[in-house]
Amino acid sequence: MYPERRETPLLALDPTTLLDRLRTTGVVLLQNFRASPDEFKQLSGQLSTNFMPYRGGAIPRAQVGNDSTVLAVTGSHLRYAVSLHGEMYYMKQRPSVIWFYCAVPAAEAGETTVADGELFYARLQPETRSLFASQDLVYWRTYPDGVWQRVYQTDDLDELARICAENEIEFELEAATRSLTTRSTRSAISTSRYTQNPVFINNILPLLDGIVGETTSYVRLADGSEIPTTVATELRSLAEELTIPIAWQPGDLLLIDNTRWLHGRHAYTDAKRDIHVRLGDIVA
Ligand SMILES: [Fe+2]
Repeated sequence: MYPERRETPLLALDPTTLLDRLRTTGVVLLQNFRASPDEFKQLSGQLSTNFMPYRGGAIPRAQVGNDSTVLAVTGSHLRYAVSLHGEMYYMKQRPSVIWFYCAVPAAEAGETTVADGELFYARLQPETRSLFASQDLVYWRTYPDGVWQRVYQTDDLDELARICAENEIEFELEAATRSLTTRSTRSAISTSRYTQNPVFINNILPLLDGIVGETTSYVRLADGSEIPTTVATELRSLAEELTIPIAWQPGDLLLIDNTRWLHGRHAYTDAKRDIHVRLGDIVA
């Protein structure tokens, strides 16, 4: 049984208070409002702007209903766990906020996970901080023909070149197989938009843990070397320590600052789990 529905409707919440919470804590969980998909769209539309498509990931995402800005979560049909990461950190153009909406929770497990990237950075060993300060990360992906067109939402090579140029991604199309290889160089450390503190936020962990699907993805340091095993172990153990699982109830919303908070999910088996996302920017 789920807790009772709140008296206050979702759309009666004060937008200023919600934005203040987002600025100070970086994460806002709105539980027990039993919000409808339409209320989700209305609230996210009031508080954010510049909704963007999901591009450059390992797996394309399905659109939910007839709104191209409401998406199913990555690999929803594959049901695997996703390690903590920042959304689209392999891209230069990425959302500053992520909205999640739970249409149907998994019968068991399938929690969305979050962790504070500021705290993650603060807890890193000094040598690990120096390593990431001195070397960027390089993300490589190879997509088979037929997959990259869905991930980049185009089969036009000029459009692909434009998207890659805007995002400072180098790419190569293999002549015989038409597979696409992309390469992007990014820092593992960023700055939190509101606190201006350093943040560990990137896509290292999912790539170290291996992506399920047809795309081959890996991450290296800028000098071409692998992330050292000691560092990988340190990151995994910090991730475990700092993860906060969000147990979904129908109609819950979660808003996170993608310049500060990492997110992921626990594995699940329930094919009915249905979580929607919108990727955008907060209104000024
Ligand atoms: Fe994500």
